[in-house]
Amino acid sequence: MHKIKVFAPATVANVGPGFDVFGFAVEQPGDEVVATLSDTRGVRVIEITGDNGLLSKDADKNTAAVAAKGLLEHLGSNQGIELSVHKKMPLGSGLGSSAASAVAGVVAANELLGAPLSRRELLPFTMEGERVACGAAHADNVAPSLLGGFILIRSYDPLDVIRIPTPENLWCTVVHPHIEVRTEDARRIMPKEISIPTGIAQWGNTAGLIAGLFANDLELIGRSLVDHVAEPARSQLIPGFTEVKKTALRLGALGSSISGSGPSVFALSDSQEKAKRIGQAMHDAWTDRYSLDSDVFVSQINKEGPRIISQ
Ligand code: HSE
Repeated sequence: MHKIKVFAPATVANVGPGFDVFGFAVEQPGDEVVATLSDTRGVRVIEITGDNGLLSKDADKNTAAVAAKGLLEHLGSNQGIELSVHKKMPLGSGLGSSAASAVAGVVAANELLGAPLSRRELLPFTMEGERVACGAAHADNVAPSLLGGFILIRSYDPLDVIRIPTPENLWCTVVHPHIEVRTEDARRIMPKEISIPTGIAQWGNTAGLIAGLFANDLELIGRSLVDHVAEPARSQLIPGFTEVKKTALRLGALGSSISGSGPSVFALSDSQEKAKRIGQAMHDAWTDRYSLDSDVFVSQINKEGPRIISQ
């Protein structure tokens, strides 16, 4: 094989109470990376589309290249690889844009080399991509994008990543208002400490969400989708957040919160029809009251993760 094109999905990180420890993949949107073998040693980014010229082609700054480079170095490979990165989702959206590129890049590189490593083994390289993108090697976007499904990062040191089963009838609506929130900025305003009562409320909900997913208990999932730590601090960065969330809950969402570091807001519900209706209402709330246009994405949890589009 000389050339391969890989799609990696967007992700909803944090999922309410699980700051840096929960994330799940969605069907759409996602990024595509084309990797081609070359005679010149190392990784080069030869093309980026869909980024409005905002992303660096420098292999030490581009998340797809950083992840692919990490893989080559780990393997001690002298191979050359050229990457074309096709951004199919907005930057700074809370949809795990940098993660999807890193995952597509490293999966494509690994496949070109004959798949010496498993998907799971590629995770540390994608986390380095996140470090370059926002200063923190958080795994709650890259892990679900790479492995599919709903992921719990039980521990970072040592890394312990667990895939959690999800109910078949769980639907996700993600609405992206057209403003940008940089993950780095959203991380800076996180509280540095939390009180014990806040901790108790938060870890009750994190455990409740996992219990609800295992038990297919949608009510429990909804009750647990409450974030006392990140959402209160970060919702200030999202005009109309409170109202848009209320709109989703009023239309029957199980729960709703900020997707990753925002500004996208997600809602979970128990049918496709409801998920679509909720998306439309959230979109309308932003347009009518805040003159903010937005994109709506509705899908089930993406259990597959990255997909080879062509080779
Ligand atoms: N857990 C990360 C954060 C996700 O909230 O900063 C960023 O998409």
